[in-house]
Amino acid sequence: MSDDGTRNADGAAVADEEARERARASRRPDFWEALYLRAETGWDLGGPTPVLRAALDTGLLGEPGRIVVPGAGRGYDAVLLAERGFAVTAVDFSASAVAHLQGEAAARGLEMDVRQQDVFALEEEPAGCMDACFEYTCFVAIDPALRERYAALLTHLVRPGGRLLFLAFPLGKESPGPPHGLTLEELEGLFGEAWRWVIDTEAPASVEARRPMERLVLLERRAGA
Ligand SMILES: C[S@@+](CC[C@H](N)C(=O)[O-])C[C@H]1O[C@@H](n2cnc3c(N)ncnc32)[C@H](O)[C@@H]1O
Repeated sequence: MSDDGTRNADGAAVADEEARERARASRRPDFWEALYLRAETGWDLGGPTPVLRAALDTGLLGEPGRIVVPGAGRGYDAVLLAERGFAVTAVDFSASAVAHLQGEAAARGLEMDVRQQDVFALEEEPAGCMDACFEYTCFVAIDPALRERYAALLTHLVRPGGRLLFLAFPLGKESPGPPHGLTLEELEGLFGEAWRWVIDTEAPASVEARRPMERLVLLERRAGA
């Protein structure tokens, strides 16, 4: 700190480097596995987000089809989608999260394709192999330097005419992540060309603490983009 209490340039540079290092570390499964093991899972709602339930009740995802849930965590949302008849592919590289998800699926007698792997392994899947994607806080979990690649991945996976239900949170957060904040402008830049904006709205069903920083965005994959 300088005499007037503001952070000096050196301090800012150190803080920036620490933030970049943490973002780089978050590319590895052991970073997330450690958070699960230490129960530092502030993102975990202990059940499906009410926004997804409301979206399903109002038909936003259309008829049940093949859906991918990247960074599914303990899998409450993925399980809800499977219960509603979707053929779910749920991906997470944390062993603890995947074990929990598999246990939940088995307890309910649900058939789900649960994969313990890096989401970027899905780049090997055939183009358009999914009818839909549900994205909730995987985008903000990955290193921001990988966002363009991640957007390209979702565009690769979902067939033309398919949907991306993107629950954007935490909007406008500026402190270092993860979670790394995002903006709607950034999403438009990343998805605007290949996807048509269908809905962009406040999500009244959001859990109270997240509501001011959460929006529901529904996109439809353009043909030929
Ligand atoms: C913030 S948590 C969100 C989990 C879940 N979507 C939820 O809302 O509870 C992010 C999850 O993404 C996983 N994750 C982060 N980067 C990943 C990657 N590159 N490949 C696979 N999983 C990843 C983490 O293990 C963690 O479970």
